[in-house]
Amino acid sequence: MNQVTTTLYERLGRREGITRITADLMKNHLANPLVNARYMNSEDLARVERRAVEFFCAGTGGPESYSGKDMVATHKGMNINEQEFMTVIDDAMDALQKNGIDEAVRNEVLAILWSMRREVLRV
Ligand code: HEM
Repeated sequence: MNQVTTTLYERLGRREGITRITADLMKNHLANPLVNARYMNSEDLARVERRAVEFFCAGTGGPESYSGKDMVATHKGMNINEQEFMTVIDDAMDALQKNGIDEAVRNEVLAILWSMRREVLRV
């Protein structure tokens, strides 16, 4: 039996696709009144976006390595609530759809993001 396997990294369009998706994700956050103040408070949004690209590449099977802090350390002290968590996930789903990622793959990403909630919520 022929079995074709691809990594999630490949299904998201490798580094190029992930870079475009992350740029849209950041645009969505900045336009989203439920979370935009959080991001506008960042000292260096370009760095955050770069690190987010690395994080998604490394976490989906790409060769890149992530040079940022872990999720608990990154979000520590922000006291992020459930509504903010949900809306950030919505922003991500929207960015994926905008970049032509089909529903099955969007659901894979959804499950991964959801699994990280304890590292991000109210830490
Ligand atoms: C599963 C969900 C999430 C993931 C995977 C995630 C991932 C990340 C990553 C990779 C960074 C960059 C870290 C760095 O620069 O070293 C970051 C930064 C940040 N995240 Fe999240 N995040 C999530 C949810 C949230 C939520 C719900 C909020 C609240 C609205 C949030 C607010 C922020 C902010 C404000 C920064 C910038 C911090 C800074 O300026 O250093 N994140 N996040």
